Amino acid sequence: MCGIFWYQGKETHAQNILLNGLKRLEYRWYDSAGLLVGNQKEIKLVKAIGKVSNLSEKVQKEINAEEQFSFGIAHTRRATHGGITENNTHPHYDNKQQFYLVHNGIIENYHKLKQELIAKWYEFYGQTDSEVIANLLTEHRNGNFLETVEKILQIIKWAYALLIVSPLAPGEMIAAKIGSPLLFGHDKDNNFFLSSDKQWLIGYVDQLTYLEDGDLLHIKNNEYTVTSKGIPTQKPFEEMDIKEIESSKGNYKHFMLKEIFEQANIIRRIFKWRVDFQNKILNAEAFHGMQNENFEHIVFIGCGTSYNAGSLGKLWMENLAGIPASCEIASEYEYRNINVNSKTLYVFISQSGETADSIEVLKMIKEKWWHTFGIVNVVGSTISRLTDYGLFTRAGAEIWVASTKAFTAQLSCILLLALFLGKKRALPKAKYEQILRELAKVPTMIEDLLADQTQIRELAQELKKYNNFFFLWRHYQFPIANESSLKLKEITYLHSESYPSGELKHGPLALIDEKIPSVIFCPQDFLFEKNLSSIQEIKARNGKVIAVSDKEIEGSDYTIKIPKTIDDIYPFITVIVGQLLAYHTADILWKNIDKPRNLAKSVTVK
Ligand code: F6R
Repeated sequence: MCGIFWYQGKETHAQNILLNGLKRLEYRWYDSAGLLVGNQKEIKLVKAIGKVSNLSEKVQKEINAEEQFSFGIAHTRRATHGGITENNTHPHYDNKQQFYLVHNGIIENYHKLKQELIAKWYEFYGQTDSEVIANLLTEHRNGNFLETVEKILQIIKWAYALLIVSPLAPGEMIAAKIGSPLLFGHDKDNNFFLSSDKQWLIGYVDQLTYLEDGDLLHIKNNEYTVTSKGIPTQKPFEEMDIKEIESSKGNYKHFMLKEIFEQANIIRRIFKWRVDFQNKILNAEAFHGMQNENFEHIVFIGCGTSYNAGSLGKLWMENLAGIPASCEIASEYEYRNINVNSKTLYVFISQSGETADSIEVLKMIKEKWWHTFGIVNVVGSTISRLTDYGLFTRAGAEIWVASTKAFTAQLSCILLLALFLGKKRALPKAKYEQILRELAKVPTMIEDLLADQTQIRELAQELKKYNNFFFLWRHYQFPIANESSLKLKEITYLHSESYPSGELKHGPLALIDEKIPSVIFCPQDFLFEKNLSSIQEIKARNGKVIAVSDKEIEGSDYTIKIPKTIDDIYPFITVIVGQLLAYHTADILWKNIDKPRNLAKSVTVK
């Protein structure tokens, strides 16, 4: 989503810090960027459409290098309200230029507020909801900066992460948040930083704290105070745990490929601390606290790739733990009438830990005092802080916008949870041990698969000729087909559908002909034979079949061979094929793989 970065401190050219900060998150999707810098006397504003380098050029021209600026705010915008124009680019200001702000999130009642302001002769230079906040500040100005901000926060309907400065209150800055993330940190020399994204703060801050919903941070004369829902509060600071930003692709052509290759070692790392393969013991700390719980139902919650991971969790829970389970899309679940009992465990899956839709459900569940478990990558993120129990996926910063390594890391943690709960219930010892034996081999199987991508590359040459695809599945391959289809859409912009093979005959066969290839995930699991029948159905209609299997599939046009394992473990392997198919097809089509259009790493708006 949009990104916020603020600095105040000893640096005399704040714009340099801001531009450096913006550059390191450049690979994320944004349409325009802007910054303001200020000192006791003035505030200067520069905005540019497109790349940060455009902004950088304008800053060189428009800000005199001899002038000194000790604070500044930078923002990258991804258009929501209003087109991609300089006027809609942040920072925004009011008609009298008394308040300057950047805003992440969406003000739900902005339209009504805007009409009221227009009726009072306010004029708007752009279409954003954020500009409304700036004029609202002027409208309610009472001579006291803090009180004015507090007043308008009662009027606007969230979500927001807001940073506001005013030439009328030099040296002051106010930040407030509801819904969208905001982190505050400092270094040893009392340089202060604030950001919507932890990555932005790497290398700048030694200590950081997470602002909670309802927190308001006020900086004045280099001192800061925080109030929580109006009451002064001491924020707990913690050491910054990431010291260096992962900004190099190494010898890989793209970040995506690098992250695909990282997966084997990430899975090794996850298991290293949590599984004693020799003695067949699960060591994860999170499980100790849950020893006495007897869950009767598991609900996985997530969005996008994380939802796909949860869908596999549902199947593992049913099969291995013998516990009824479901997986729900967060943006839908929120509006459902839920009837579960208090012995339900809600498992929230999220790479960023900041996805607004998932957080909304989490808050709803917490209000009911139900049990929550987080499977999260970013340490300290909102979901990791709000859940009762959890496992960090520890996949490292996922630089590439669309998820790959986070997915297999999520699967690893979910399977451990299913095994832990299964061991307490229905899972036979022999099955438990068989799974651990196969699990231990997963990293090597992934490495073997990645070692030779010639066939997939050749196939991608062929696939680039098509515009529509089917990804077909049964049972355990459902989340993998979904994820593969999502990856293909995200980076090639080609259309694809994930469909259960058994459903083809109930309608979609009508679409099958030589123009739509079907990628069918059909390892030799308990439904292998059934998949063979589906392949025949497709071939009978001249459809092209790409089978992903550990056995050469007679009658298919291609078989992508994978290593042999057991039913429960195949998904770790088949998903790598899905990722590579998307990657190579996108590369052959010359797509901008590391910066796919319209994608955000962390979706902090609903
Ligand atoms: C897809 C992708 C998204 C995210 C989704 C949830 O490649 O990255 O679909 O999986 O936005 O994000 P998190 O996992 O951060 O909650």
